[in-house]
Amino acid sequence: MAEFDPRVPSIARVYDYFLGGKDNFAADRDLAGQMIAMAPLVPVITRENRQFLARAVAWAANQGTGQFIDVGCGMPTTPNTLESARAVTAGARVAYIDNDPVVLSHLNALTAKGCAGVTVVAGDAREVPAILGSVSTGIDLSAPACLVMGYLLHFFPAGTARDLVAAYAAALAPGSSLVLSAIHVDRQGAEEGFDDYSTSVARVYNHSVEEFTSFFGPLEVLPPGVVDARQWRARAEPAHLPQREVLPPGVIDARQQRTWAEPAHLPQREEYSIVGVARI
Ligand SMILES: C[S@@+](CC[C@H](N)C(=O)[O-])C[C@H]1O[C@@H](n2cnc3c(N)ncnc32)[C@H](O)[C@@H]1O
Repeated sequence: MAEFDPRVPSIARVYDYFLGGKDNFAADRDLAGQMIAMAPLVPVITRENRQFLARAVAWAANQGTGQFIDVGCGMPTTPNTLESARAVTAGARVAYIDNDPVVLSHLNALTAKGCAGVTVVAGDAREVPAILGSVSTGIDLSAPACLVMGYLLHFFPAGTARDLVAAYAAALAPGSSLVLSAIHVDRQGAEEGFDDYSTSVARVYNHSVEEFTSFFGPLEVLPPGVVDARQWRARAEPAHLPQREVLPPGVIDARQQRTWAEPAHLPQREEYSIVGVARI
């Protein structure tokens, strides 16, 4: 596990900066600035990624899933998996896994404050049996769970990413679901654009749409398929939301508020978050 050093940028803190969080240092902001100069939409697409994860987790909770395993979870910046799941199911349980010391200290602070139903696992996502052993202290792996790997698989070559997803999916009960996302740049020479980040923080792989689709292996990718994050069930589905309470007249349940553009009105972009959700 990496030691905490504010002079060295970290994946989690650079990402936190893109999300508008406060848990980042000058080294992280410098590198983030270089990346924005090269790819101005990066802060936009990272937020779109988080919004997608929130919708996908809410979708799984609405399907009756009460357990979530978030591998490479990052800072618990809003919206995070716990908030999205509990907006639908108050007692939802979440296992958060990361290897960044700052992320872990934030997550541990959450549990220290007495937030029940949250399991924090420090470890390398590639050590699947060890991670699942720790996860099982808070999550019942014999019951359906939603496995989230947001913006994690682009740190691994395609073969490693495929094996990793398959290993986690094999440990989950039927009826579980799998939520994946990665950064994607549809432009010649895009790999060179990731060079600064790859040199300073971690190698980033710009997986093709075909590679990303292959991460799901034989699993059934649910409609609308592998798409730009903005296109994944962008419309809230109020009809499927359980009634929780009676609200005063004129007040809209936040879950029903649609804040995202209709897919038909989305401008084409070279940079986007590529996403998909499958049933296990
Ligand atoms: C870009 S952030 C994504 C955060 C969140 N999943 C999201 O999509 O909003 C990637 C996270 O994965 C973590 N990470 C990267 N490689 C990892 C590994 N091998 N094992 C565990 N966590 C890892 C980083 O520390 C970081 O917090």
